[in-house]
Amino acid sequence: MNIDNPKSLIVIFGATGDLANRKLFPSLYRLYIGGKLSEQFAVVGVARRPKSNEQFRENVKDALLEAGLPPQEDEKINTFCSHFYYHPFDVQSSDSYIQLNSTLEMLDHDYQTEGNRIFYLAMAPEFFGMIASNLKSEGLTKTSGWKRLVIEKPFGRDLPSAEELNEQIRNAFSENEIYRIDHYLGKEMVQNIEVIRFANALFEPLWNNRYISNIQVTSSETLGVGDRAGYYEKSGALRDMVQNHMLQMVALLAMEPPSRLNTEEVRSEKVKVFRSLRHFSVDEVDDYFVRGQYKGGTLGDKEVIGYREEAQTSPESNTETYVAGKLLIDNFRWAGVPFYIRTGKRMAAKSTKIVIEFKNLPMNLYFPAGEEQQPNLLVIHIQPEEGITLHINAKKSGPSGETTPIKMDFSNQSTAGINTPEAYERLIYDCLRGDATNFTHWDEVALSWKFIDSISQAWAAKKATYFPNYEAGTMGPDQADMLLEKDGFQWWSFNK
Ligand code: BG6
Repeated sequence: MNIDNPKSLIVIFGATGDLANRKLFPSLYRLYIGGKLSEQFAVVGVARRPKSNEQFRENVKDALLEAGLPPQEDEKINTFCSHFYYHPFDVQSSDSYIQLNSTLEMLDHDYQTEGNRIFYLAMAPEFFGMIASNLKSEGLTKTSGWKRLVIEKPFGRDLPSAEELNEQIRNAFSENEIYRIDHYLGKEMVQNIEVIRFANALFEPLWNNRYISNIQVTSSETLGVGDRAGYYEKSGALRDMVQNHMLQMVALLAMEPPSRLNTEEVRSEKVKVFRSLRHFSVDEVDDYFVRGQYKGGTLGDKEVIGYREEAQTSPESNTETYVAGKLLIDNFRWAGVPFYIRTGKRMAAKSTKIVIEFKNLPMNLYFPAGEEQQPNLLVIHIQPEEGITLHINAKKSGPSGETTPIKMDFSNQSTAGINTPEAYERLIYDCLRGDATNFTHWDEVALSWKFIDSISQAWAAKKATYFPNYEAGTMGPDQADMLLEKDGFQWWSFNK
């Protein structure tokens, strides 16, 4: 098998949905024009409403144009779209699966895909388990090549529901055939965390509780809940962002160097971080976690409504749209170093950043006692900018001998001069090549739910009578600032 140019059928369940249109089709196209998809591939779009292959190809084309892919590539786009097929489908009907199987067998023959099949579940999670079992019972997983299941979040809503789902899909696919997507793991600068840490003599020796005072991970959004309230009301920011993306970033920042850069070793180091996370009892949760819900406010020059006024939310909703937390990792490297996280909707900026704050020198000749010393900071800009900034102190030019903080900047954009690949583009390519390193293993999912569950239980038991408690267009409730202040720290916010 040519591993760099894999052959496969890709079945997308939920092919008329938002994810397929906004992310999957453009990513597949970029892989195609980048020469990373051989001609031996076909995509079968599966969804409820009836549609012909031609109509589906038109939708795909529209999605590519919508994504800003150049229309002058018309010819290429048409050839690409000719690989797309549509299959109207009822997830509950055996016949649907049997017919889908015949289509797959025919396409496998036509495109010489050697029996390789990816089943991509880009749809409502309540169907995940049922689809996986039907794929097995109707023979779709019995193929001469490899088979892989790609599954979007949410993977359950707590540990018991995640276990149940896992059992259902494990009946049909083995763990190494399951690719649980966390799209943050496909982001360029999230992948860069390991390189920054493990390829630099400058950082790794300092990457521990002797030299780091705290680590901050912020992922803020300006968007509100939009038309996703149906899902979000049951989820909230804790399940939507913290259980997956935020904890995954923490794991990459905290893990030990893996002995090799392969899937097993990297995952096993991340799992050890999850195992070392300190769990909080229901009574302790308020000391470590802050929840928030946005009220109306101004974003740029736009007035926006509060969460409780959004369509499909309850006027008394207790759902958090913001979470800040202090995590403690009880192991030798990190004992005593807080990892602060915060994420929320309708905040002042769309931005994901990591700040590593180093401890001050025990004695600094340039900052006499009582004078504020600017700590060294390493800022990893995940998005929208991609790069790193190192904040250090230097001499102010001139005769005074005073110091001044300076920044050393590295920006991906200006160095590479191109937009880095979309997270989904990488992840689909990894899945085609059978590399599961940047997908979440079941053990990571289970351990992160275990950690999250005690927090959500504490919150469910105690209504947030103070909601809504932050204004749209701000960085969240004041209590989130106090969470750091009581430890003698502050949130660092930087633009590049
Ligand atoms: C998704 C959440 O997983 O991540 C969304 O469900 C959130 O609510 C999104 O908006 C944020 O992703 P990104 O890549 O825009 O930071």
